[in-house]
Amino acid sequence: MPRFYVTTPIYYVKDAPHLGHAYTTVNADALARWHRLAGDEVLFLTGTDEHGQKVARAAEAQGLTPLEWTDQLAPRFQAAWADLDIAYDDFIRTTEDRHTASVQAFLSRIHDNGYIYKDRYQGLYCVPCEQYYAEDELLAGGCCPVHRTPVEHLEEENYFFRLSAFEDRLVEWFEAHPDAVVPESKRNEALSFVKGGLRDISITRTSIDWGVRVPWDDEHVFYVWYDALVNYVTAIGYGRDDARFAAWWPSVHHLIGKEILRFHCVWWPAMCLAAGIDPPARVQVHGWLLLGGEKMSNSSVNQIAPGDLTAEYGVDPVRYHLLRDIPLGSDGEFSAEGIVGRYNTDLANTLGNLLARVATVVGSKCGGTGPAPDPASRLAGVAGEVVAAAVAAWGAGQPHLGLEATWRLLRETNAELEAAEPWKAEPGPAVEAVLGSALEVLRITALLLVPAMPSTARELWRRIGLAGVPEDRRLPADADWGGYPGGGTVEKGAPLFPRRKG
Ligand code: MSP
Repeated sequence: MPRFYVTTPIYYVKDAPHLGHAYTTVNADALARWHRLAGDEVLFLTGTDEHGQKVARAAEAQGLTPLEWTDQLAPRFQAAWADLDIAYDDFIRTTEDRHTASVQAFLSRIHDNGYIYKDRYQGLYCVPCEQYYAEDELLAGGCCPVHRTPVEHLEEENYFFRLSAFEDRLVEWFEAHPDAVVPESKRNEALSFVKGGLRDISITRTSIDWGVRVPWDDEHVFYVWYDALVNYVTAIGYGRDDARFAAWWPSVHHLIGKEILRFHCVWWPAMCLAAGIDPPARVQVHGWLLLGGEKMSNSSVNQIAPGDLTAEYGVDPVRYHLLRDIPLGSDGEFSAEGIVGRYNTDLANTLGNLLARVATVVGSKCGGTGPAPDPASRLAGVAGEVVAAAVAAWGAGQPHLGLEATWRLLRETNAELEAAEPWKAEPGPAVEAVLGSALEVLRITALLLVPAMPSTARELWRRIGLAGVPEDRRLPADADWGGYPGGGTVEKGAPLFPRRKG
């Protein structure tokens, strides 16, 4: 059975999650659900990044110890993900013992392999980024290019990772694995950064305590990023369960925002090489959710709590909007008009309307019993094309294209009904053929909607009289035309998506 191991970045527990975090998590969840539907063995990992200065300062500001603080915050991430119907298989907290064990094993291996040495370091450090910057990378006034706040001068004795030793091997890796970083523009950005020359990087701290202790020198803790990146191998048993690790690595799919490209596409692959394991098979880089043209972030005021949106619009419409309107790889502006527009056009007028009209006419012309589809329906061909397009799009990590294809089938089915006008015709085989085919489209749609809108998919399935749940079926096999058995009770029920005013 093919394996699909998908990860999100682990989020800083500086504050409660906002819609930007939800964007990545919903996309990862949808990809995981798609792969489960395709019959793959799936492991979906998310979690929280709990060490480092940023978190320690947030705790201090609340008068708490870092652990007290993270113990309060991590459950808020879990609650936000439960609210958004996120079905992760594992939630990692970097304060867990399993993580300490894997970080120490992983970095000791790199140390033993001769790629870690001790030296003095001074530099310009951005605490919100947890990253040093070179002077020429800063904005005017010595400000961080991401946060636009002043960086701090830090000087300390550090252990260094010999990143400079990996320039050639990284270039070879990029060349041998053209799809390792997608989209291509991001691959090129990472590759040209490597070709521009790599400097060794400081990976430990003596100035703070809140981190994983360096096993060979307990004056030091690992710098938060080098602890955090290791989470991806902790979860599959690195240094603790070799068989499990070998089963899942390196066929991983990391989903990340574009601001952490260097960590995932340069530092992390180099660390893997230094530890003697393969770099990750795939890093998929996505853009930012913007509000008023600015990146939604913890350090700005433009945050939206995912729970406020799900309370207002419903869970599946929020998921649908995030997946459908902001293609993975591009930035996208969030607005109330955007979500309402998408809701009314696609969910109320196209999907909801199709279900309502089919259920009504099955009620009035077929006594509420769903007829079997017409094997010769023109929609059979459309459905075949749409399923193929959706399989290709989801397989390529492009949910918006998968959903766009799905809506083509719904629109064509609405058009077919408008042309045939079964509501005006006498009951009989012709009406049954049209309605049976529309029900078959709804069955196939329910399957295609499992990754994006799991509750809607289940409800659609139930309303057209099918037993079980769509996520127990398999794609593409169960999407072949003719699967709707006919003979079940079709329920009209309340509108799935009542039209919204704004
Ligand atoms: N803790 C590090 C990641 C360590 S991974 C080994 C971190 N955390 S974070 O809380 O800042 O989360 C960053 C990630 O959250 C981004 O890479 C992205 O996946 C997601 N997003 C946060 N804000 C976002 C937007 N405004 N838009 C899209 N994604 C956003 O960096």
